[in-house]
Amino acid sequence: MQGIKRTHMCGHLGTGDTGAQVVVAGWVQKRRDLGGLIFLDIRDRTGIVQVVVDGEVSAQAFKTAETLRNEFVVGIKGTVVKRKEDSINLKLKTGEIEIVGEAIEVFNSAQTPPIYIEDNSNVTEVLRLKYRYLDLRRPSMQKNLMLRHRLSMDVRKFLDKNGFIEIETPVLTKPTPEGARDYLVPSRVNPGKFFALPQSPQLFKQLLMASGVDKYFQIARCFRDEDLRADRQPEFTQIDIEMSFVDMEDIIALNEELMSYIFEKNLGINLSLPFDRMTYQQAMDNYGSDKPDTRFDMKIVDITDIVAGSEFKVFSGAASKGGYIRGINAKGCGESFSRREIDGLGEFVKQLGAKGLAWMVVTQEEIKSPIAKFLNQAEMDGIVERMGGEAGDLLLMVADLPAIVYDSLGQLRLELGKRLGLIDGDAFNFLWVTHFPLLEYDHEAERYVAVHHPFTSPVKEDIELLSTSPGKVRANAYDLVLNGLELGGGSIRIHDNELQQKMFDILGFDRERAQEKFGFLLEAFKYGTPPHGGIAFGLDRLAMLVAGRENIRDVIAFPKTQNAACLMTGAPAQADGQQLDEIHIKLDIRE
Ligand code: AMO
Ligand code: AMP
Repeated sequence: MQGIKRTHMCGHLGTGDTGAQVVVAGWVQKRRDLGGLIFLDIRDRTGIVQVVVDGEVSAQAFKTAETLRNEFVVGIKGTVVKRKEDSINLKLKTGEIEIVGEAIEVFNSAQTPPIYIEDNSNVTEVLRLKYRYLDLRRPSMQKNLMLRHRLSMDVRKFLDKNGFIEIETPVLTKPTPEGARDYLVPSRVNPGKFFALPQSPQLFKQLLMASGVDKYFQIARCFRDEDLRADRQPEFTQIDIEMSFVDMEDIIALNEELMSYIFEKNLGINLSLPFDRMTYQQAMDNYGSDKPDTRFDMKIVDITDIVAGSEFKVFSGAASKGGYIRGINAKGCGESFSRREIDGLGEFVKQLGAKGLAWMVVTQEEIKSPIAKFLNQAEMDGIVERMGGEAGDLLLMVADLPAIVYDSLGQLRLELGKRLGLIDGDAFNFLWVTHFPLLEYDHEAERYVAVHHPFTSPVKEDIELLSTSPGKVRANAYDLVLNGLELGGGSIRIHDNELQQKMFDILGFDRERAQEKFGFLLEAFKYGTPPHGGIAFGLDRLAMLVAGRENIRDVIAFPKTQNAACLMTGAPAQADGQQLDEIHIKLDIRE
């Protein structure tokens, strides 16, 4: 049989095609043999269509159909007919029609695949990743690939319309300071020297502003050697943006429009603009996190002033060391949680570094609490009142240094939000977090480090504090948070040589090292660099949230595991001796 050539995609056929002779091509999803009739479900990326093969219509087609198994690749010629009323399948997009098969060509056979090619099949992720090309055949994965494609297209369309030009920047480059470890690539022709894969195009996009590009963007691959999580991959993609002659408001306004364009196009959702905003301090104080999930309330409450002088040493001791005593009110949980469940919450915060979890159950008659005996009446009343405690509530408190109080209560809040079903799964809560601290003190390294990166400019009013109390200086930096996830972050940059040099000084880079690492940027500042700023979004995270997934691996065609390995190709792999010789590398692996 010769020359069978596709005319239609399976999922596009409908009653409008009734009577037409068509050729579809794809994979056998299912074959049902009813004696004289064989039903085939044929799948391509657009969907599934049913083919009926009747020996009386075509002996060739029938004979071939008898040999077909799941995942055989076939081309089928036939005529589209309306199904009888009682055989219409409403679950299938093409369920009102079927194709009466007239000729079948087998393009390829297939062994029984190690995973079922259907959604909701119960397969381990290890198998999915090893046979990724099969996993990607599943309709939901095809949908994710297409969604991601559309997002990239929409980003390009929107930014192009707004005067941005896409420029590619090098992948073999010098380290960029985004705070993770670099992936290094040895240079064969420069023995002993290495390229670093970019953690982001940060330095290049700033240099493009010095080049007069004015509005740059790139859908850029970035590489970071860091601990992986559900929302982190060693290589990932940024929507990277930089603009000249702008302030934070310009960047926020443009990117709100971008998000609103994307959500309207892909989900039909009209986001309400402008997005909410919160300062970093407000976010930490109320939610214990710089990326608060604002889809539910349960804010953190400070009670330090009430118990700072308490007899209860756990509280007063923390306060005297500069710590906080703060808590959250788990509404109604005083009634619904067992003692064991409450103890479980204590274990939860202990794993996050807290020393314990103090609790109070409020009832009509009394306050039940293991710490009641350590507190006086005024302290008890003060706590209950401040935390809005009513009968049935469970008040949970942590006393510790600020970082631990923020983190443990922030995470406890999220855990309770999930457990109590307080999170609206259909909501998209965008939030700008602004006024991050510029610097934070690294106790191990005994110096300040940049919270964002060393090119972020300080808020104007705070510049004077740079010399006196660097930890208090706020940055001209902003993050966009969506449903408790950091979607993007950026800043207005330093464009002045002197201020940049001062930043390097505070960060403990001596002049020589700063020159060696970033000399080319400092040099560029001498030749007229415009004021500029930008932002970068994680495309993988955006695609994950739009697709309603919980892991970015689901929106990446060929992702890596927790161990930064590719189960399909087996990368990373050993290099042979000659290859290593050529790049002047000797291995010295210690267990
Ligand atoms: P930042 O480091 O905040 O900023 O990165 C920007 C966004 O990239 C995404 N992201 C990641 N996604 C998946 N896996 C990872 N390992 C990963 N790391 C980061 C996040 C994050 O918000 N150059 C600056 C941007 C700027 O200042 O303009 C930068 O890279 O969604
Ligand atoms: P203790 O006096 O150590 O038995 O603690 C009494 C109660 O205080 C217990 O319920 C502990 O879980 C709780 N607790 C201990 N340390 C802390 C802390 N740092 N913050 C909050 N509660 C704590």
